[in-house]
Amino acid sequence: KEVKLWGGRFEESVTDAVEKFTESISFDKALYKQDIMGSKAHASMLAKQGLMSDSDRDTILKGLEEIEGQIEAGQFVWRTDREDVHMNIEAALTDLVGEPAKKLHTARSRNDQVATDFRLWCRDAIDGIISRIKNLQIALVELALHNEGLIVPGYTHLQRAQPVLLQHLLLAYVEQLERDAGRLLDCRARLNFCPLGACALAGTGLPIDRFITSDALGFTGPMRNSIDAVSDRDFVLELLSANSITAVHLSRLGEEWVLWASEEFGFLTPSDKVSTGSSIMPQKKNPDPMELVRGKSARVIGDLVSLLVLCKGLPHAYNRDLQEDKEPVFDSVKAIVGMLEVSAEFAQNVSFNRERIQKALPAGHLDATTLADYLVKKGIPFRTSHDIVGRSVALCVSRNCELQDLSLDELNSLNPVFDKDVYEYLGVENSIKKFKSYGSTGSECVAGQLDYWIDKLSIS
Ligand code: ARG
Repeated sequence: KEVKLWGGRFEESVTDAVEKFTESISFDKALYKQDIMGSKAHASMLAKQGLMSDSDRDTILKGLEEIEGQIEAGQFVWRTDREDVHMNIEAALTDLVGEPAKKLHTARSRNDQVATDFRLWCRDAIDGIISRIKNLQIALVELALHNEGLIVPGYTHLQRAQPVLLQHLLLAYVEQLERDAGRLLDCRARLNFCPLGACALAGTGLPIDRFITSDALGFTGPMRNSIDAVSDRDFVLELLSANSITAVHLSRLGEEWVLWASEEFGFLTPSDKVSTGSSIMPQKKNPDPMELVRGKSARVIGDLVSLLVLCKGLPHAYNRDLQEDKEPVFDSVKAIVGMLEVSAEFAQNVSFNRERIQKALPAGHLDATTLADYLVKKGIPFRTSHDIVGRSVALCVSRNCELQDLSLDELNSLNPVFDKDVYEYLGVENSIKKFKSYGSTGSECVAGQLDYWIDKLSIS
């Protein structure tokens, strides 16, 4: 058995069970790029500070590049007995270049090393998620552009509420996604500080320069407090929180579209490209991708909860428990990326059924609130208007008709203020024309929202 890098004080080697239980190489090899980047920056800094010769530095840089090449070519052998990505690469470098490699870990611990690698990884992950959020936003705006003027029932409590433009609803998702991206950017700005040089927890007496490594790795600056630098994973909690909120948004979109694709709603038809069938029922065409978007939100939320529970009982500074921070993050990022990509594809492959929607529109008294506003314009206090329209609706329910089917005499029997012009307010087409307030579903307002997003997302 190879002697461990930390083996000096040990007389016996660890049992196979412990070795298997404590390894992280099976998953943290995903950090190899960041680990090599960090080691290169560290070696360069050590040479600048006179802690390593320039020739040792060059040997190390060349060796690390060769190892990176081997990893990318699938030729590198990851060894469980070398525990994690950091020791695998350092030991392989020693195998490759000999003595100079033994200087690389000067003024460095795996504790600051892993914190640095992981921040770099999360930073890249954030950039990747944000670009996918933008793609989904573009797909939704384009879907809106293809469905100009289409009015759909708006719901509250999943009961018919007021008419809205489909474009307005689609742009609501776009707004939510914009805040999701904003949360990730906030998280990115806060995580972009460098732990490297914090060493195990206390820093070092050696003359390192943490500003050099921080700059080389694109961080805003070195973290101020070495104990904090190796201890906290709040950047991960923020990333997973942001992902969870995005996941909840996507899950609601999934739920809505699955519902709308049902025979009962029939508002939306996904193309074959984004549907799947049943192994027993030959007629089936299911919106599985959006069901799985809804389903995968569960694991994204679960990953956040795992991390919160992982961190809550840890005394300062580093604890090995923190090795458990990787898998939930990898899982969450993979899931959210897939959810965003598939949602965009679904949006590109879905059509809204104008006829079916138009047939559904007259039912449910969607124009009742517009009618109450009509009475307000005639000088009636809103609470009284509400009551008058409520009694009008009750009359409709007893007659099995809509508000626009009531005659002026019938309306006047409820209140004499109704005039012929009331019919300009009734029916969804008329009703929707009355919306004027900022942010409302009125066509001018929605057109303004669309222009905003076309410009912001550079849609041509
Ligand atoms: N594999 C460890 C992790 O992921 C690296 C740090 C280990 N440090 C230590 N002192 N055992 O957290």
